[in-house]
Amino acid sequence: MRWLVTGGVGFIGSHLCRTLLSRGDAVRVLDDFSDAPYPAALKRQNAETLRLEFPAFEVVEGCVTDRALAEAVVRETDAVIHLAGLAGVRPSFSDPARYVRVNVEGTATLFDAAQRSGHTLFVLASSSSVYGNATPLPAVEEAAAVVPESPYAASKRGAELVVSAMLRKTPSLRCAALRFFTVYGPRQRPEMAITTFMRAILAGKPITVFGDGSMRRDFTHVDDIVRGILAATERSPEGFRAYNLGSGAPVMLRDLVALMGRAAKCAVDVRHDAVPLGDVDATFADIARARGELGWAPRIALSDGLATVVAWLNA
Ligand SMILES: NC(=O)c1ccc[n+]([C@@H]2O[C@H](COP(=O)([O-])OP(=O)(O)OC[C@H]3O[C@@H](n4cnc5c(N)ncnc54)[C@H](O)[C@@H]3O)[C@@H](O)[C@H]2O)c1
Repeated sequence: MRWLVTGGVGFIGSHLCRTLLSRGDAVRVLDDFSDAPYPAALKRQNAETLRLEFPAFEVVEGCVTDRALAEAVVRETDAVIHLAGLAGVRPSFSDPARYVRVNVEGTATLFDAAQRSGHTLFVLASSSSVYGNATPLPAVEEAAAVVPESPYAASKRGAELVVSAMLRKTPSLRCAALRFFTVYGPRQRPEMAITTFMRAILAGKPITVFGDGSMRRDFTHVDDIVRGILAATERSPEGFRAYNLGSGAPVMLRDLVALMGRAAKCAVDVRHDAVPLGDVDATFADIARARGELGWAPRIALSDGLATVVAWLNA
């Protein structure tokens, strides 16, 4: 297979590209090496590491909203895995228009290019944030998902809606929207909680937990996410289909902190702060659809996954 992976030098993308390249597939990445929501240097490092190991790895630097570029990079590929996007709930309140441009317009641009090229498979990175606080938990894919809590969540739901409408033109195209639930593991985005907490814990510094620690998150290891993406490329049906990729076992932040202390073999000094705007109370995936239709289930328990984070940070 010849893949176009957008956002392929980011956190999830770099893990996915390594897996695809290791099995002998051709991979072209489109990524703008933007400075948001974290410094571009980490993305350059990911690109360089993959290039050294796989000389045929191709990286095109540019923006997903560039229509001519999108058409050019989609050409001579068989399918698109569209991970590029602006991630992060909190920063989306500071620049909502940029989130909409990149996440909604960028997805429409890429999807249009894929349709024009006659592609039959498009995998889209969506998010658990589409559910908001109004959705009954565990969240099922058919939940209304109409009350987003942040511009980021709205932009991810907007991207899903725009591709599902565009599919009317090419109904046999297989389009899987994968709703990732808090992904962690080596090379996790530096502003995300597990990396931030673990760095502080290993350095003997205090960590700041938002709220009283009762907030629940469904943490999913990046290796499980990569397996889920591959399962969707193989088994998702024609037309639009959303899948939750989560652990299905949410953990309270205070329990996460205890597990992190155990993984790091360190005492943890916890401070508390107010819950930021846009953070949902809980995420909790119903993963029956991904199990049944994709044959996917998460394999990495949180305690084992945290050990991979400690090993990465210590290395
Ligand atoms: N990490 C998570 O917990 C999580 C959860 C839900 C959804 N997601 C989604 O999964 C995808 C990957 O997330 P990640 O954590 O690897 O984030 P990331 O920021 O590490 O990766 C995103 C990549 O997209 C690139 N990008 C951003 N804007 C672009 C543009 N205009 N044109 C081209 N490339 C652009 C970035 O440079 C980056 O390399 C994102 O779409 C994100 O919204 C992630």
